[in-house]
Amino acid sequence: PEIVFHQPGGRVATVETEAGVSVMRAAVQNAVEGIVGECGGQAMCATCHVLVHESVLDGLPPIGDDEEEMLDCTAAPRDPRRSRLGCQLIMGTDLPKVAVDVPETQL
Ligand code: FES
Repeated sequence: PEIVFHQPGGRVATVETEAGVSVMRAAVQNAVEGIVGECGGQAMCATCHVLVHESVLDGLPPIGDDEEEMLDCTAAPRDPRRSRLGCQLIMGTDLPKVAVDVPETQL
């Protein structure tokens, strides 16, 4: 799977991951700036907030209850359509490619 991270300043980082790896984990492992992942992927911190590009929204898994709650606690404003927690987006055959904007701030 492939994840493309777009930084606020315009920089773009493309990361190849194994299946089963979340967007948050891939970002942390590849030192992608702006994704913190403080809670380690438990949907409890919202520091892995990403804004998913419109073109790939249809392929995403539905938002879970914990995720829904945490999305109201993001540091950057929540986008009603595009905001997701990176730790809840697991790459794999169901989600082979994703592109996200990294928010200005996570803390
Ligand atoms: Fe904490 Fe995603 S890593 S909510």
